Amino acid sequence: MPKISFKGLNMPDSPIRKLTPIADGAKALGRHVIHLNIGQPDVQTPPMAMEAVRSMDRTVLEYSPSEGFVSYRKGLASYYSSVGVDVTPEQIMVTTGGSEALAFAFMACLNPGDEVIIPEPFYANYNGFAATAGVRIVPVTALLDDGFALPSMDAFEELITERTKAILICNPGNPSGRKYENDSLDTLAELVKKHDLYLVADEVYREFDYDGKLSRSVLSMEGLEDNAILVDSVSKRYSMCGARIGALVTRNASVYRAAMKFAMARLSPPTMAQVASEAALKTPASYFEEIRLEYMQRRDVLVEGLREIPGVVCPTPGGAFYAVARFPIDDCDVFCKWILESFQWEGATVMLAPNTGFYATPGLGKQEIRMAYVLEVSEIRKAVTCIAEALKVYPGVVMPRTQSHS
Ligand SMILES: Cc1ncc(COP(=O)(O)O)c(C=O)c1O
Repeated sequence: MPKISFKGLNMPDSPIRKLTPIADGAKALGRHVIHLNIGQPDVQTPPMAMEAVRSMDRTVLEYSPSEGFVSYRKGLASYYSSVGVDVTPEQIMVTTGGSEALAFAFMACLNPGDEVIIPEPFYANYNGFAATAGVRIVPVTALLDDGFALPSMDAFEELITERTKAILICNPGNPSGRKYENDSLDTLAELVKKHDLYLVADEVYREFDYDGKLSRSVLSMEGLEDNAILVDSVSKRYSMCGARIGALVTRNASVYRAAMKFAMARLSPPTMAQVASEAALKTPASYFEEIRLEYMQRRDVLVEGLREIPGVVCPTPGGAFYAVARFPIDDCDVFCKWILESFQWEGATVMLAPNTGFYATPGLGKQEIRMAYVLEVSEIRKAVTCIAEALKVYPGVVMPRTQSHS
C-alpha cells in the first residue's frame, strides 16, 4: 500500500473534536451530552444576513474576485474604522474563514523551517496551519495562575533565533479568554520592531469583550505598518461559522501581494456567504450588546460554579467565550474520556476539551480543561453540577497539597 506523507501522519488531532465518537456512544446510551467542548455559538445569525441570501438577485453563482467583492471590502473598511482601525479596501483580503487568513499569513511570510513564537495554550488549529506551511511553532508559556497574561518580553526574547520570523497572538484569546492590556501590547510591538518580525494578531473574538472597552487592534498601533497582519472572521462575530468568511488585513503591500497569489490559486472566497457577510455589517449595536450581556452571565455562572468545587481554580476570562480551569485530576485526557464513557448525573454528561491539546510543550496542561460557554445558563448550571458530582467519584482525583511544612 502507498505510504501516507510525514505531514499527513504528523498532523495533530483536534482536541476539540477527538472525543466525538465517545460522545456519540454516550448519546446512543440515551444520555444527554452537554457540549462545552466547542465554540459553536447558539446565538441567532443577524436576520438581515439570512434575508440577503434569500433575496439574492443573481442568476449565476459565479466566482467573486480573489480578494473578495469590492462592495464588501468597502463595507469592511467602514467597520474597521468604527473600531479604531483605518485601512483601505485595498488592504483587506476576504478569505475563506479566519482559518484561510492564518494559512495565507504563514505561507506569505514564513519559509519552511522558519519559526513563529506563540503564547501557549493556543488555538489548536494553529498547529495544522503551521504543519501545512512547514513552519515551526515555538511556544512561550502563559500561566493559569497569572490568568494567562502575556508572558514577559524576556521570555519572548530568549526564544528569538535567526529562524524567528513572526509572533502570533490571539486577542481576546482562545482557549484562555485572556484579553491583553494595552501596555503589554505596546511592549510586544517594541520587541517586534527591534527584531524586525511580523506580528500576526488573531482578533476573531474582538466583540466578545466583557469590560466594555474594545480590545486594541494591532492595526491601530503606530509604527507597525510593515509588521502587523490582522486575522479576522465573521464566524463568531455574527454567529456565522458556516459562512466561511474571514479576512486578512495588512498595510504591508508586499505581504498583501504575496497572500494574493495564494488567494488567486484558490480562485475566490464563497460568493453567497460574502453577500450574507456584507449584509451582516448593518447589524445594529444592540445585537452585540445583548450578546455581550448574555455571555457575561454565562461566564459568571460557569466560573463561579466551578470555583465552588473543591480543588478547582478558574481565572475570570476577560473576553471570547472560553474559560480554562485547573481540575484536581491526574490527567485531563483521561478525565474527559471517563466522564463521557462512565459517568452521568440525572441522565446527563458533559463533553469537555482537554487543554493538553492547546499546548505545544509536551506534558503541560494535564490538569486543565477548556470549556466554551456557548449554551444557555440552565445548561451551563447542569454541566457544572455534573462536573462537581463527577469529581466526587472520579478515580484519578489528585487534590492540591495544602500548605504544610510537616
Ligand atoms: C482563535 C480562532 N481563530 C480562528 C478561528 C477560525 O475561524 P474561522 O471559522 O473563521 O475559520 C477560530 C475558530 O474557532 C478561533 O477560535
